[in-house]
Amino acid sequence: MVSYILGIESSCDDTSAAVLQNTKVLSNVIANQQVHEKFGGVVPELASRAHQQNIIPVIDAALKEANIHKNDVSAVAFTRGPGLLGSLLVGSSFAKAFALSLDIPLLEIDHMEAHILAHFIQDEPDSKVPDFPFLCLTVSGGHTQIVLVKDYFDMEIIGKTIDDAAGEAFDKAAKIMSLPYPGGPVIDKLAQLGNPDAFKFAEPRIAGLDYSFSGLKTSILYLIRDALKKDPRFIERNKADLSASIQHTIIEILMKKLVLASQQTGIKQLAIAGGVSANSGLRKAMQVAAETYNWEIFIPKMSYSTDNAAMIAIAGFYKWRQKEFASQRMTPYARQSSKK
Ligand code: KG4
Ligand code: ZN
Repeated sequence: MVSYILGIESSCDDTSAAVLQNTKVLSNVIANQQVHEKFGGVVPELASRAHQQNIIPVIDAALKEANIHKNDVSAVAFTRGPGLLGSLLVGSSFAKAFALSLDIPLLEIDHMEAHILAHFIQDEPDSKVPDFPFLCLTVSGGHTQIVLVKDYFDMEIIGKTIDDAAGEAFDKAAKIMSLPYPGGPVIDKLAQLGNPDAFKFAEPRIAGLDYSFSGLKTSILYLIRDALKKDPRFIERNKADLSASIQHTIIEILMKKLVLASQQTGIKQLAIAGGVSANSGLRKAMQVAAETYNWEIFIPKMSYSTDNAAMIAIAGFYKWRQKEFASQRMTPYARQSSKK
């Protein structure tokens, strides 16, 4: 049976809508919000307002690009959380009204699970997808997790950050260097011109599969603060080397625990997901690890790495197939731990 799932993502600062025909993406429209750039981070109130302005044009564009009419939509999937509450309310309210007016099922999706389920998008009929169980390193602006994926909606977090997320470490490091927000892509680009061994930063000593990034942030801050006393143009002169060294350290921290997780579980199918999975250094490190440890790896397309609605729609497709529909009374949650 052919389904058309409309996915809506509005958890942070991107308004996105996508249409999937079963597991194939017909459209994936994303409206970025430039308004936050001058504040060096996302301003929640401004994000909600921009979602409100963007949502109808974005959904309209997604339906047009998919070449379907709204009456063809089988079900509507929306991000229920985690994220900024005001932003989530815009997407969830729209999804509820859309489902109600067309009398179609409503599907509630967890943003972090959707990042992982993006690996099941099949743009080509023979696109390779993981088998269960597999391990996924989910790295975004708000989360850093090693997830044991047992089934589409049966996931166990076996490692997580005890403080900052990896994306946050990139963003905060960029802020220290007065680089624009979001810092991850900027550092990634600069890193390609720098020496990853130029500077050494403190690495965390955390037991088991958990992560910590707040010490790294402090270590970067102190190194730069001390160097600036001797040379006020230190950052300007060393931007590329600093970026390469910071990126190298973050990736080393991430990969160490992922290797440990694979050794502890015996699982050799490894995936990465979330905004930081767009990082070219992390992608390369996964390829090196695949050869070293004989892993089968899954790296999402760039357009499915950072926030997008195609991942919400693919998660929606599997919920729709299981007839796991949401009620109109469902409310968004800001944190994954408050999910009911
Ligand atoms: O998944 P995402 O788009 O939004 C959240 O759910 O948080 O992730 C955003 C994060 C930001 O911290 C951003 O700096 C980071 O992903 N990011 C990157 C790259 N592209 C985005 N970090 C490193 N390298 C990149 N190329
Ligand atoms: Zn995300």
